[in-house]
Amino acid sequence: MIYLDACATAPLRPGVLQRMIELQQEAWANPSSLHGFGLKASEALERARSQIAGNLCADHQDVVFTSGATESIHLALHGVAASRSPGRLVISSVEHPAVSGAAHLLARRGWEVTEWPVDQLGRIRLECLEELLASPTKIVSLVWGQGEVGTIQPLLTVAEACRERGILIHTDATQVLSQALPNWSELPVDLLSSSAHKSGGPRGIGLLMTRESLRSDLQPLLTGGGQEGGLRSGTESVVLAAGMAFALEQVERQPIKLSRAGNGIAALRDGLRDRLLIDDRLEVCGDPEDRLPHHLSLLVSDDDGHPVSGRHLVRSLDATGLAVSSGSACSSGKDSDSPVLTAMGLPKVVRRSSVRISFGPWIEESDLDGIAERFLTGLEKAICS
Ligand SMILES: Cc1ncc(COP(=O)(O)O)c(C=O)c1O
Repeated sequence: MIYLDACATAPLRPGVLQRMIELQQEAWANPSSLHGFGLKASEALERARSQIAGNLCADHQDVVFTSGATESIHLALHGVAASRSPGRLVISSVEHPAVSGAAHLLARRGWEVTEWPVDQLGRIRLECLEELLASPTKIVSLVWGQGEVGTIQPLLTVAEACRERGILIHTDATQVLSQALPNWSELPVDLLSSSAHKSGGPRGIGLLMTRESLRSDLQPLLTGGGQEGGLRSGTESVVLAAGMAFALEQVERQPIKLSRAGNGIAALRDGLRDRLLIDDRLEVCGDPEDRLPHHLSLLVSDDDGHPVSGRHLVRSLDATGLAVSSGSACSSGKDSDSPVLTAMGLPKVVRRSSVRISFGPWIEESDLDGIAERFLTGLEKAICS
């Protein structure tokens, strides 16, 4: 079985489990306790925080540990909205449901939520920028790398425009952080969310990157013991924090802009794409150039050009030894049109015909021929059954 679903969850990176086992043995106590056991745990927690901050060129206080991206996103959006009178929140029309869900909760509290339209490649339409960033917009949330179709959004352009207008910007960087660690000191965004498990860290932990100037403004979702600088109460998991730090240590540091296709994992992805696209029943979905380097999304049809159900194909590919997703992991359990493909304006008939193949460091060049062969066999079986 070949695992090609890193965008759903990646297996732990080398050494992460061992690091967590060691930490559980050495630093199992409550990091808030004042005795030596507690001190050891709090030192390990702060070491993990500093390690992550160091890798992101951030201050250690900028890193707030949460249970994952979904919580970070809610903390970011609700946290800043709570200290402001309602205005307009702009989100893209291709956000993960964690963002659209958090936004819709804010709509119930009097916020006007507007979706930024996208083109057929899933890129936000920059021609709408002036209109969408005009008053009463107070907050923008833009996914950096879209999980279902892989498109990278022009985050920096939007972030600079928000800065000029005094608008707060949050980015959902959950899929990006597995591929490149941005330099937080240079990134013109106010808040950034991510989950460890997409980057080969454990599930159950994520982070929200914050700015000092904003922290006193940010209202917590969870109150209680006042952990995480008062922003996220609840006894911290030292083991999970250390696991995330160890996994992120292995992700490449990159300048702000994600590299385009061409090297490393992107070259493998492109190698598979080229092998598959000789079959004209397959078509790339999302931006062919500006896309997550480990991500390949395909629209699939049969010999007569009729769309093939992505869910049906996923089951058939599973039987041929490939683990992939239809759409995103959270939507793949539902047999309904993909809201992302709908926002991209794809015809209704093809909105259930996408599959996502996402790579990790366990895939090598020598695997590509076998993957392509199994894929085409699985496709044939899916069409015939
Ligand atoms: C872009 C994006 N944002 C947010 C999430 C939510 O992450 P989690 O389920 O770890 O909270 C995901 C998970 O698929 C994602 O791909």
